[in-house]
Amino acid sequence: MKEIAKNLSLLIQLDVDAVYSYDQVIKEVDDPVIRDQLNMYRRDHMRHIDELSRIMASLGETPIKRMPDFKGFLTPGFMTLLNLTGTEGALRGLESNEKVASKIYHDARSWYMPPEIKDLIEKHSNDEYEHVRYIQERLGVISTPIR
Ligand SMILES: [Fe+2]
Ligand SMILES: [Fe+2]
Repeated sequence: MKEIAKNLSLLIQLDVDAVYSYDQVIKEVDDPVIRDQLNMYRRDHMRHIDELSRIMASLGETPIKRMPDFKGFLTPGFMTLLNLTGTEGALRGLESNEKVASKIYHDARSWYMPPEIKDLIEKHSNDEYEHVRYIQERLGVISTPIR
């Protein structure tokens, strides 16, 4: 597989794992406003998967299957998610996974890519910053921004 396709696959996998993370915890969130927002972020990840898969296809590569990777970047987060309950627990679990996703997307901004793919990755990366920002704001966590 070409280097670009390999890198895109890595991002798709990351987004698939992110969707899985949301699926594990959204049911724990009893605050309807927060739940709606998290469902919107879950849809951002779905859109990331669709957009990246479309680019893969346009490069003549077969996009990867949409299955969570239990040995991937978010695996430690998956384990934590199992034991979390309530809105705060859900947010804590998502915070750690979204920080990983945001960091990888941040690094991806500097990968060698054709300009139109670079633009897309930057947009996705900005979405990821926003996901972390919102979750941390909800948690009242005061921490150094990732960027
Ligand atoms: Fe994403
Ligand atoms: Fe995210």
